[in-house]
Amino acid sequence: MLGVPRTRLLTISTVHPSAAVALDRLIKRRAGREPLQHILGRAPFRHVMLSVGPGVFIPRPETEQLVEWGLAVAGPAPLAVDLCSGSGAIALSVARERSGSTVYAVEQAPSALVWLRRNVAATEPRVVVVEGDATAPATLATLDGSVDLVLCNPPYVPASARLEPEVAEHDPAEAVFGGPDGLALIPGIARRSFDLLRPGGWLGIEHDDTQGSSVPALLRAAGFVDVEDRRDLADRPRFAVGRRPPLPGRS
Ligand SMILES: C[S@@+](CC[C@H](N)C(=O)[O-])C[C@H]1O[C@@H](n2cnc3c(N)ncnc32)[C@H](O)[C@@H]1O
Repeated sequence: MLGVPRTRLLTISTVHPSAAVALDRLIKRRAGREPLQHILGRAPFRHVMLSVGPGVFIPRPETEQLVEWGLAVAGPAPLAVDLCSGSGAIALSVARERSGSTVYAVEQAPSALVWLRRNVAATEPRVVVVEGDATAPATLATLDGSVDLVLCNPPYVPASARLEPEVAEHDPAEAVFGGPDGLALIPGIARRSFDLLRPGGWLGIEHDDTQGSSVPALLRAAGFVDVEDRRDLADRPRFAVGRRPPLPGRS
């Protein structure tokens, strides 16, 4: 707006009145609890800058740890699937940080798909966008039994939760809420992930900090082994991991 880098802001002696009016407008929007990311039109996530706005979930820093875990268990050239992709934060990060990967991004909401396609085209065009229901057996059925890594940040907030205006009024409801207990989608996503994965392949799925026991239990019920729950930097239960049982004699 002022045409100078941030480090020079303190050295500016005069601000043109039109710039002051424009800044005032932006401050009023933020004071009205519009998310900063919508005002700027972008959100950073790991090594990518995503375009965001009305109709798509703003990626959160907690989810960066899910990606970090996924990259640590994935091989050098993983076949990876991001279920519930939203802006594409997870899929684009895996593609950017693992150059040999093949990545599919599954999203159902038409409004989010607009942003997802825009971000893929601008960032990592080799990510394949798939419009579909992450819980439906037909979604990516041709990949069944071959995927190395599934990552998922589903809608998981209980319907009765009271949320800050930035979330309640600006994140799409279908991106946030997961039914009465927040777990409505998890069994379907666990089943779909199990079928997509090759034996020994890993699933990592983010959850609410009240779901550190229930989500691992749902993964075990779907047949996953080596199930564990992981904590975020604030020491809250944040995502569950598990893998499809390896074939006998394989690790
Ligand atoms: C919490 S947001 C996560 C977005 C992104 N992965 C991230 O971490 O920033 C959940 C996303 O799942 C999508 N979604 C909800 N139900 C879905 C379903 N059954 N199949 C595919 N996508 C779904 C929503 O539209 C939303 O974009």
